[in-house]
Amino acid sequence: MALFQSSTCIIPDAPAIPRHIAIIMDGNGRWAKQRFMPRVAGHQRGVEALREVVKACRSLGVEHLTVFAFSSENWRRPADEVSFLMSLFLVMLEREVAKLHENNIRLKIIGDHSRFDDKLRQTMQEAEQLTANNSALTLTIAANYGGRWDVMHAVKAMLNEHPQLAQTFTEQDLQPYLSMSDAPEPDLFIRTGGEQRISNFMLWQLAYTELYFTDTLWPAFDRNELDKAIASYQKRERRFGRTSEQLPGEKLNGKSEQGERNA
Ligand code: IPE
Ligand code: IPE
Ligand code: MG
Repeated sequence: MALFQSSTCIIPDAPAIPRHIAIIMDGNGRWAKQRFMPRVAGHQRGVEALREVVKACRSLGVEHLTVFAFSSENWRRPADEVSFLMSLFLVMLEREVAKLHENNIRLKIIGDHSRFDDKLRQTMQEAEQLTANNSALTLTIAANYGGRWDVMHAVKAMLNEHPQLAQTFTEQDLQPYLSMSDAPEPDLFIRTGGEQRISNFMLWQLAYTELYFTDTLWPAFDRNELDKAIASYQKRERRFGRTSEQLPGEKLNGKSEQGERNA
């Protein structure tokens, strides 16, 4: 069973390089519109940006990268955009999985997959199986995922297996049923595209995550932008409910001057 490391039950480490980065890859449509291109061209370029960020995370030693590719609310989009996104997902899996595997990257896909067609479901499963034992980085793609769905689904699955827990269950009982049960909670959350909201991404897991918002549109997000996000994260004081004075001396980036705080 996964290690229990809930930030609300146990004070976690605050590593200088985030162990887990979660990203809402937003702004593809606007990127394309600015260039007088169809929205879907933005999604296509978004895949390139993801490739670069995966590479950067692997070389930085980030252990988990979790990206929001399609939300449970994105079905509300025009049917042709939804079907383009589904076929892009399939093509991306077919084209990229061998490279991920060569680079010792594990691929996981979270979300409710019952609405996807058989071919896509099968390709997703094969990709997960092929890369299951890789250990350099876990790339988790959230597809037809919603934070509320995740919690509801976990509670139902837990009670199904352990009906006697209905009145007494704890976080530790619930944790194995949540989608991200085998990863630490994200240290750093990044949302591109200028919106400052969570849009139903990892609601449970973001409890104590440092949030970073940038106006950069996802297709333009690159290594330099990732470095800026990590530099911002390294200036934060992660208190997890404690006072400043209670924290161990070292800041995340090794500097301890008061003036560095919240810079
Ligand atoms: C994010 O970009 C990708 C998905 C939601 C699939 P958008 O498509 O939301 O781009 P904007 O926000 O309209 O620019
Ligand atoms: C969030 O982006 C979902 C993904 C990036 C997959 P949206 O563009 O769908 O979010 P809202 O609608 O602006 O909140
Ligand atoms: Mg958007």
